[in-house]
Amino acid sequence: MTIKNPHVLPEQPLLARLQRNLIGIFLISFLLLDGLTFAVTETLFRHDLLVHAQNNMSQIWHKQQDDETQEILHNDFSFRQTSDNFITTWDIAASKHIVQSVAYGPGIPFPLKNIFPFYAYLKPTHHASFVIIKRGSLQILVGTDPLWHNGQFVGWIQSVYSLGEMQIATRVLAKTSLIVAGFMGVLALVLAYGLSKRNIVPIKHALQRQRDFVHNASHELRTPLSIIQTSLELAQEDAQGELKGFIDSSLSEVHYLTRLLTHLQRLAQQDSGILALDYQWFDCAPIIEDVIDAFQEPAKQAQMAIKSQLTNPLMIYADPTLFKELLIILIDNAIKYGQHGGNQITVQSLLSGRTVSIRITDNGKGIPPAVQTRIFERFFRASPQNGHGFGLGLAMAAWIVHMHQAHIHVQSEPYYQTTFTVDFPLPRRGSP
Ligand SMILES: Nc1ncnc2c1ncn2[C@@H]1O[C@H](COP(=O)(O)OP(=O)(O)OP(=O)(O)O)[C@@H](O)[C@H]1O
Ligand SMILES: [Mg+2]
Repeated sequence: MTIKNPHVLPEQPLLARLQRNLIGIFLISFLLLDGLTFAVTETLFRHDLLVHAQNNMSQIWHKQQDDETQEILHNDFSFRQTSDNFITTWDIAASKHIVQSVAYGPGIPFPLKNIFPFYAYLKPTHHASFVIIKRGSLQILVGTDPLWHNGQFVGWIQSVYSLGEMQIATRVLAKTSLIVAGFMGVLALVLAYGLSKRNIVPIKHALQRQRDFVHNASHELRTPLSIIQTSLELAQEDAQGELKGFIDSSLSEVHYLTRLLTHLQRLAQQDSGILALDYQWFDCAPIIEDVIDAFQEPAKQAQMAIKSQLTNPLMIYADPTLFKELLIILIDNAIKYGQHGGNQITVQSLLSGRTVSIRITDNGKGIPPAVQTRIFERFFRASPQNGHGFGLGLAMAAWIVHMHQAHIHVQSEPYYQTTFTVDFPLPRRGSP
């Protein structure tokens, strides 16, 4: 399994992601509220218009019943047209039902053949009832009312009222709402951005305080540590026997603490983004050899051998200090974890095209596939029982690689071979 280009997640991107999420949450809430308001307004508006249409229709009926029903009844309920609004009457003699169609309102007249088939769907009751029927883009309100003559129920009167007016009004409402919603959307975005920014400020401050503390504490601890280191190194020169052993192990603890402080300081710098890197062309082969030399003693103690296969010279474009730190992290890991089951570490360089690759291989117990994706996370340790550590080395390595637009990948086959490869791109000379 190969893990390539791990995500480096320092606080800046995390905060940006948090802010983006907050904006999303605020925006969705605003838009939902906006949509809900529109839906409620539209429903109330439609309801109002419908009631208005029904009232209108009832008024026309009653007027027509008073003025014209007599005439209809006396005219043998024939099919005829009486006026523009009052189009037809229709007698269904067998069931003694009078069906009257009154077309009224904008969008009228409907062709009669379009209206009559609707009656088939209507089931008149003894109470007035209204049904909305849709035909294509047309909507009509069909009302059914009992018809009385001289106090006697004689049948039904059905009337058709075009809802064209309502449709037009609803369309106007929708258009207006869309414009208002667009405006509200922009307002919501601005508000969401402002609110998210406001909410993130205390988190930013808390992180800043924590970062300052880590930075200051590691800075303050560095001076006494380097005094202890110098004293121990002086004492080491004359020490013998058991005392030398104590001093050696104390020195290795001091080295470990110094490295930890460097990591912590680097992480604080990484999060605040205030580290100015010193990119330059240099031959990295001597630096690699220096680091290998420095690790020869700890490797011997871990019964491991480090060998190098380097191209000489090996020019790269990078920050020399960070490059050295990267190597220290990877070789330190190769010794610390490779010694469990392995005895050999190889540091290799490869030049292909415009890429310089550095490979550090060990033959130790390796990294279980399930956690390979996590080893670059801060504070993650796959095997805490194997030597001490804080799980910061590879997070640092990923950041250093990121700062150089380089790539890091790991390939691990437990108890056979674990290889970390860093690919440095080589810019054209004079271009950066
Ligand atoms: N060469 C390797 N072989 C096996 N496991 C490794 C190797 N390199 C890293 N790991 C695993 O990845 C984990 C993370 O490594 P990392 O260097 O980030 O932290 P650490 O070594 O535990 O602590 P620190 O480097 O902060 O002292 C380690 O705990 C170890 O489980
Ligand atoms: Mg480490």
